[in-house]
Amino acid sequence: MDRALPLADIREIQVTDVVAVLTLDRETADDYPGDVATAHDPLTPAGATPTTTHRGWGAFTSHGQLVAMTFADIAQDVTETDFTVVDRGWRHRGLGSAVKAACLLALSDEGHVDFRTGGSSDNPASIAANRAVGYELDEEWLSYAPGDRPGDQRA
Ligand SMILES: CC(C)(COP(=O)(O)OP(=O)(O)OC[C@H]1O[C@@H](n2cnc3c(N)ncnc32)[C@H](O)[C@@H]1OP(=O)(O)O)[C@@H](O)C(=O)NCCC(=O)NCCS
Repeated sequence: MDRALPLADIREIQVTDVVAVLTLDRETADDYPGDVATAHDPLTPAGATPTTTHRGWGAFTSHGQLVAMTFADIAQDVTETDFTVVDRGWRHRGLGSAVKAACLLALSDEGHVDFRTGGSSDNPASIAANRAVGYELDEEWLSYAPGDRPGDQRA
């Protein structure tokens, strides 16, 4: 978080930020590695609008540009990260970890205790950001796809 603070203002995303959320989402739509278990569908205006159970934290530059964001779904028993993304030009500078940390800190302060998140094994930045804010790996999912049958000679 300390690394990110000189770069951007980290704060909760408001309803008035919806256009910025949709813009960053659109610009990064092709950037999610992995398969069905970690896929991210493009946001609709409704999906980009924070509610009491779908809240987001973002990093805003001094010019007010949203360059990183994370959204979490808050249920009674557990809070689950929906997605986290950073503008391509701002990656690897601590902002992904910072918005995740801001989300965890704010919701912990409000009394939430159980948090879950996901990350594809072919997405080292995502796995590292999760570790950086304290998540522990407790389960792994495998994605299967149809393949050639044994003995099938086709290339
Ligand atoms: C995943 C993502 C959000 C990480 O954001 P970021 O701001 O680049 O990450 P940070 O700078 O906070 O770095 C977090 C950790 O990842 C490491 N990291 C960052 N980029 C990395 C890379 N390309 N390869 C390996 N490690 C990387 C950092 O060293 C850091 O580790 P550390 O805390 O041990 O030093 C960003 O890469 C992104 O937007 N990717 C596309 C969308 C996506 O895949 N989202 C995740 C699934 S929802």
